[in-house]
Amino acid sequence: MVAFKINGKPVSVSAEPDTPLLWAIRDHLKLTGTKFGCGAGHCGACIVHVNGKAIKSCLTRLSSVEGASVTTIEGLSPDSSHPLQKAWVTEQVAQCGYCQSGQIMQAAELLEQNPNPSRNEIVAHMDAVLCRCGTYTRIITAIQRAARETRS
Ligand code: FES
Ligand code: FES
Repeated sequence: MVAFKINGKPVSVSAEPDTPLLWAIRDHLKLTGTKFGCGAGHCGACIVHVNGKAIKSCLTRLSSVEGASVTTIEGLSPDSSHPLQKAWVTEQVAQCGYCQSGQIMQAAELLEQNPNPSRNEIVAHMDAVLCRCGTYTRIITAIQRAARETRS
């Protein structure tokens, strides 16, 4: 049994210690906003925050989050009002949408660390997440918008 918080709520998951956190989130806790893409740390569709840091949950053992605070896309804001979520809608970023929760969680870490990132800093930080639909230009624009609106 591994106990941790997810989106502010205490939970316990009964599974093998080496179960990927991704499967605990999706199968045990039924939070399906976090996606399985490659299962090998390459695509970033599975990114969540653990104690505020963006991590790939397909590569993270369940046992390693004992006592930690995990945030998924469902917990980023109570009503989808995070500046990134609003900017994503305004800029109509998503195409198929599959990669987008990972993109937003990765971007949220960036804006926490750096509220005024340059274009190059955005590109470098977002390198961790792939988009097969090629929405990269709109992702950059949306992050710039969210950063602007957060600062103003
Ligand atoms: S599913 Fe985790 S990086 Fe691709
Ligand atoms: S929007 Fe389709 S993979 Fe990114």
